[in-house]
Amino acid sequence: MKRRILFVCLGNICRSPAAEGILRDMAAREGRAAEFDIDSAGTYAGHAGELPDSRMREAAFARGYRLTHRSRPVCEDDFERFDMIVAMDDNNYHNLFRLAPSLQAREKIFRMAEFFTSAGDRSYVPDPYYEGRAGFEVVLDLLEDACAEILRRTRCGEL
Ligand code: 4NP
Repeated sequence: MKRRILFVCLGNICRSPAAEGILRDMAAREGRAAEFDIDSAGTYAGHAGELPDSRMREAAFARGYRLTHRSRPVCEDDFERFDMIVAMDDNNYHNLFRLAPSLQAREKIFRMAEFFTSAGDRSYVPDPYYEGRAGFEVVLDLLEDACAEILRRTRCGEL
């Protein structure tokens, strides 16, 4: 059975499509691509249909990730289609909590920060949209750390 993972941020043009691309690439490098069904979505629909922000695409490309996702809003059906819905920050988390159609659906919601292993005292993935280049590098560092941990936990049955 495939593990179906949906990453969610606000606009679905910076953090969550990067998480999607990173996890997919890391899984493929471990020869585990077929184990996963990975997607991303946003709680805000204003960028629907757009490619990821060019600053994020460039920063990710420099690390070897090609981001081709098209932004889409998260919807109630996603709680059926996915086993894990991973929020980038507390705002995303609370919006997902409100959207979840049942208690069972709420149990599928995680915070990306639950998978940080080397992020100091950070408790969320910060929104880089109004930041400079350094903000995108911080986000990519956090996402690479968390995605590696998701892979590790799924590999050894902790998740
Ligand atoms: P994301 O970043 O949630 O990581 O995709 C943002 C993208 C767009 C906006 C805010 C954050 N916005 O305000 O349009």
